[in-house]
Amino acid sequence: MTPDLACVDLVKRFDETTAVDNVSFSVPPGSFFSILGPSGCGKTTIMRMIAGFLDPTSGDIRIKGRSVLDTPPNKRPVNMVFQHLALFPMMTIAENIGYGLRRQKMPKDQIARKVDAALERIGLPGIGARKVDELSGGQKQRVAIARCMVLEPDVLLLDEPLGALDLKLREHMKVELKALQAAFDTTFVYITHDQSEALVMSDQIAVMNAGRFEQVGTGQDLYYRPETPFVAGFIGEANRWKGRIERAEGDVLQLRAETGLAIRATTAGGLAAGDRAEIFVRPESIRLAGSAGALSDVDNHLQGRVTSILFNGAASRVLVEDEAGETLEVTLPQSGEFASLQRGDTVHIGWGAAQASCFGGQG
Ligand SMILES: Nc1ncnc2c1ncn2[C@@H]1O[C@H](COP(=O)(O)OP(=O)(O)OP(=O)(O)O)[C@@H](O)[C@H]1O
Ligand SMILES: [Mg+2]
Repeated sequence: MTPDLACVDLVKRFDETTAVDNVSFSVPPGSFFSILGPSGCGKTTIMRMIAGFLDPTSGDIRIKGRSVLDTPPNKRPVNMVFQHLALFPMMTIAENIGYGLRRQKMPKDQIARKVDAALERIGLPGIGARKVDELSGGQKQRVAIARCMVLEPDVLLLDEPLGALDLKLREHMKVELKALQAAFDTTFVYITHDQSEALVMSDQIAVMNAGRFEQVGTGQDLYYRPETPFVAGFIGEANRWKGRIERAEGDVLQLRAETGLAIRATTAGGLAAGDRAEIFVRPESIRLAGSAGALSDVDNHLQGRVTSILFNGAASRVLVEDEAGETLEVTLPQSGEFASLQRGDTVHIGWGAAQASCFGGQG
């Protein structure tokens, strides 16, 4: 099937800055694709090139298989929703949503029908006569999306559309946006620096760093099978150590961390004794036990002292200081077994080599 959107070897240079550095990806019809990365990594620059507000230095952009490089922004079958949404404050909600259709010279009664249908879709029927400042932030956001959707773009570009909303509303809008995308059955390209937004909504996520895509995959791929240290560190939480490989037997390695700790880990391959490497272990991969015996079967085992308990419901953590004086973050089990754990208690912690991702060439 022809992808709705394909970017091929896309490059954008501003003087000496390479904002987008040879990025290629394609988005199948009707899917939700997110670009996730830290501030300044080049996300908005990609969007502006797709929308036609910026010319690529090199590379191609294809929508439904056809290059749009020679197509001006207003003729491209894409629409963009911005972080600071620009609804027109002097117009009613209905006038805002119908704005693009009026510019297309669509007959009035047809516009009215489309606007009503769009309001229905976004779950705000009957508010067409209201003014923009009579709506909540989340409602305005939905109107901004409806205003784009009535134009029936092949691809809708959303640049951090939830950025201006408070946390609670953002949580709610994540679920709503995903439902809206399914209802309109349109391809969404969504950019954000918030991993939880990307993980919850997306079919595919590209993790971007310094102008490049580090990895493209499902949320599960990125979380459980990171391919680069940047992805392992950017998605989710992780305890990390740098050091040198002491022994390599098949896909199991032993790393001697700079702190002196020996850690057993697995690798996809390519690492040998003497190589520098970095290891990542997630807090939820670490088992907590009251005695050493309970961890006799695990590859990595440490004794430590509880320095803090960070209560956060199901996401509660225990900070454990090991004998080298290093602090590890461990998920507090929900079983209740450790409900009376206190600061100063001695605990045993352990994790399997398979739960430790190892990447070469660090430090
Ligand atoms: N018009 C421009 N002229 C020169 N440099 C630019 C221009 N636009 C963007 N840049 C630079 O390109 C890089 C990428 O910017 P971009 O706006 O794409 O980042 P971003 O990932 O969207 O960041 P944020 O999450 O903060 O919005 C930055 O270093 C930025 O300073
Ligand atoms: Mg941006």
